[in-house]
Amino acid sequence: MRYNFDKIVDRKGTDCLKYDFAVERGKPEGVLPLWVADMDFQTAPAVIEQIEKTAAHGIFGYTDTKDDYYRAVAGWYEKHFGWRPEKEWLVKTPGIVFALAAAVRAYTKEGDGVLLQQPVYYPFSEVIRDNDRRIVNSPLKLKGGRYEIDFDDLEEKIAGEHIKLFLMCSPHNPTGRVWEEWELRKIGELCLKYHVTVVSDEIHCDFVYPGHEHHVFASLDERYAGISLICTSPSKTFNTAGLQVSNIWIPNPDLREAFERAVRQTGYSQLNVMGLAACRAAYEEGGEWYLQVKDYLKGNLDFTRAFLTRELPEIHLIEPEGTYLLWLDFRDLNMTEEEREDLILNRAGLWLDSGAIFGEDGEGFERINIACSRKVLEEALVRLRDALGSLESGRGVKSKRTRAEKEK
Ligand SMILES: Cc1ncc(COP(=O)(O)O)c(C=O)c1O
Repeated sequence: MRYNFDKIVDRKGTDCLKYDFAVERGKPEGVLPLWVADMDFQTAPAVIEQIEKTAAHGIFGYTDTKDDYYRAVAGWYEKHFGWRPEKEWLVKTPGIVFALAAAVRAYTKEGDGVLLQQPVYYPFSEVIRDNDRRIVNSPLKLKGGRYEIDFDDLEEKIAGEHIKLFLMCSPHNPTGRVWEEWELRKIGELCLKYHVTVVSDEIHCDFVYPGHEHHVFASLDERYAGISLICTSPSKTFNTAGLQVSNIWIPNPDLREAFERAVRQTGYSQLNVMGLAACRAAYEEGGEWYLQVKDYLKGNLDFTRAFLTRELPEIHLIEPEGTYLLWLDFRDLNMTEEEREDLILNRAGLWLDSGAIFGEDGEGFERINIACSRKVLEEALVRLRDALGSLESGRGVKSKRTRAEKEK
């Protein structure tokens, strides 16, 4: 069966963050949103059917999972990544950010430094700050259009700041890096050397573009498994973020016990019945839908790259290796944050995520979510082009595009 991702499903009026909260969040009414990381596509039919079946039963009491749930999740990881986690490693949480916060409380104390690599998904910083720990940033370095880890800096920060916990984003949001095996091994050895626990947030692992491969950190070496928490979730892959289920795999019993204690301290126990049903159905029956959505996203990436090259050469795409979030470099436009905000929000009528929220290393960049129908994506890019064009002609500036065209 072919799934139709070109179909535009109206999300307005569903109280979704992406479309229904512009005004509440200080944006003009009616902006076209390509910010928060969920998709505009309906999830796999098997997931919808399972939720309908669960709903039809009509009793929504306390629920937990059995072997079939474990087999569905573990089976997915075995099939796609050659890694079979064990049943007792599993701790379920209502989201990965919840798990990040629990890990911060489980493995560090107030005032401790927690390591991350900015620019990075902003809740990484929030869970550190909100728990009165210190952010220790080892910034990624942009070299030749690709972000790299500065391993000397990483080691210096780990040693100098007595780091006990590293929040690692793999694949990395927003830079789109999919860490290579040698990079993960180097991280693993450093973290072993300095006794650092690694929280590997692998929520984006299913969206990796051809030519790249995601490695589950714990799959590379038993010793890495012994110091890590592997954070997984069907929510990016199947667009089920609102169902709030994530699966955290912790092979080391001591780390697991400390984490479970931190979860218990919040008072949280069983997960949401709908979320659990959806998760199992997604991993058991959503495989074909997933392959097709991945293909569509690749098409959206190719479309965006071609559009930018042709129509907006001043804005540079940081070529993603994974994720449906593109990191766009606006620095050649020489705009202040306010000017860029005005261009995007007021002139183009777009709601993107401004790079600065990912840390100061993100200044001058914007993150755009391409998990929407191609028509919507095209509309967004056209709006951006036209807004920039009118701004430049208003200022009497000849755009680089025009110059580039002349040179042809
Ligand atoms: C790297 C990363 N981790 C976690 C999340 C959110 O996870 P959850 O909704 O399960 O808390 C996102 C969402 O964009 C993300 O990009």
